[in-house]
Amino acid sequence: MADPYYITTAIHYPNGKPHIGHAYETIAADVMARFQRAKGREVRFQTGTDEHGLKMAQKARDLGVTPRQLCDEMSGYFRILFDILDISYDNFIRTTEDRHHAASQAIWQAMEASGDLYLDRYEGWYSIRDEAYYDESELTDGEGGEKLSPQGTPVEWTVEESWFFRLSKYQEPLLALYRDNPDFIRPASRRNEVQRFVEGGLRDLSVSRTSFDWGVKVPGADEHVMYVWVDALTNYLTGLGYPEKTPDFEKFWPADLHLIGKDIVRFHAVYWPAFLMSAGLPLPRQVYGHGFLLNRGQKESKSLGNVTDPVELAEKFGVDPLRYFLLREIAFGQDGSYSPEAIVTRANAELANSFGNLAQRTLSMIFKNVDGVLSVASKDDADVALETSVADAITELQDRFERLAFSEGLEAWMRAVFACNQYVDEMAPWALRKTDPDRMAAVLMTLFRCVHDLAIAVRPVVPGSIDRLLDQMGIEADARGYGALGSSDWFDTLVADGFRVDKPVGVFPRLEMPEETPA
Ligand code: MF3
Repeated sequence: MADPYYITTAIHYPNGKPHIGHAYETIAADVMARFQRAKGREVRFQTGTDEHGLKMAQKARDLGVTPRQLCDEMSGYFRILFDILDISYDNFIRTTEDRHHAASQAIWQAMEASGDLYLDRYEGWYSIRDEAYYDESELTDGEGGEKLSPQGTPVEWTVEESWFFRLSKYQEPLLALYRDNPDFIRPASRRNEVQRFVEGGLRDLSVSRTSFDWGVKVPGADEHVMYVWVDALTNYLTGLGYPEKTPDFEKFWPADLHLIGKDIVRFHAVYWPAFLMSAGLPLPRQVYGHGFLLNRGQKESKSLGNVTDPVELAEKFGVDPLRYFLLREIAFGQDGSYSPEAIVTRANAELANSFGNLAQRTLSMIFKNVDGVLSVASKDDADVALETSVADAITELQDRFERLAFSEGLEAWMRAVFACNQYVDEMAPWALRKTDPDRMAAVLMTLFRCVHDLAIAVRPVVPGSIDRLLDQMGIEADARGYGALGSSDWFDTLVADGFRVDKPVGVFPRLEMPEETPA
């Protein structure tokens, strides 16, 4: 059995409905989870909502509801979105759950036992929007002379009694971690940023608050709640049953990948490993900070009025075209832009006209020209060459996906689809029907096998559509993993079983270009 694989997304503040950025991150994580499952690994995929902190408390106050009501309602929208988007998470965690409070208190006590927590007074800057402490030197002046965080959010001067975590003690161990594990933080640009930050020196971190009470209580100091990031990060352990040494914990910790946005790399690549070292727990293998998704090149915001509801996008264009577009169009790790036209253009060119057309032509010719009957035929050089280029492209897709270079992997896949379409045009099987029916059958069978492998390879990205295709090709639900690639055992079995292709139904319809384009 291949190694277990544990992947997480960030958990999201449910202070409003989910936006396209949440969809983007979760889709990418889902593709990775499905990809690892396809390779035969036992996968644990966790996502959820981050429900404590000042931001949540304030939002609830503004809306005239309790924080609990706010997060119950909004957390539900995240789940609905993820179900619509076909997200195959294994665990959805809410930080207000009792099991999570217990886990957070346990890690706190472990850090305390290491002598890393002490009581003092915090005086400094805090951004509620980022739920982050900033050093004076990191701030810039806004237009009205007000102080802004490096993320451009307002900060306020805060003075209160607080527990501190001895982050300074971990400067050297963290630098050693980055040095010894060059892939701990990816992409490399993010690693360099973090490394510079740590080299600049680390101050101890304020890890509790007394000015509000919406959080996890500090063990033995009831008037304190934990700094929201201490409890939030712990969610990655909670989901495995920590502090119990459960079978899940033993199997899946440390996590293989924390997939997060580039704005929260510092929390995951500095604070989190330091907390874990302090608590005596193994460190995650990788933190990957992906880029931002822009709407026609601009950040979405209420004031610009360009906020897109991901549910609407999925309804309008279909879940799979949206999933494909996001991973194909944007170089993962960098910022990228989307627009309705770009989604339609990409989905039509590659899913409908290229792969969809290939699959539809292949099944339909088999249905019409050989009564849907599959047969074993001898291959000639062109057939072997095509199968080789498909196999090579799929190997490349796997290498790229393994490194989260989704767009490059899909580009390789697309090249193979083009090669197949070119082969159809060159072989012109319709013309062979009268002149050389055996050769025609050989061509159609080669295509059937290539479509099968290309479908399975891309299934993590567009699972629903591919399953509808594989259903029509007689492929059992449990035979859709990468184990079936590059072998024709499955094909020989279909032939032996007398499987027949029925009149095919296309699975990648052409999308209409939206007429109105908002300014
Ligand atoms: N809620 C945080 C944000 O949206 C992310 C928390 S990720 C966690 O910025 F794992 F630390 F919880």
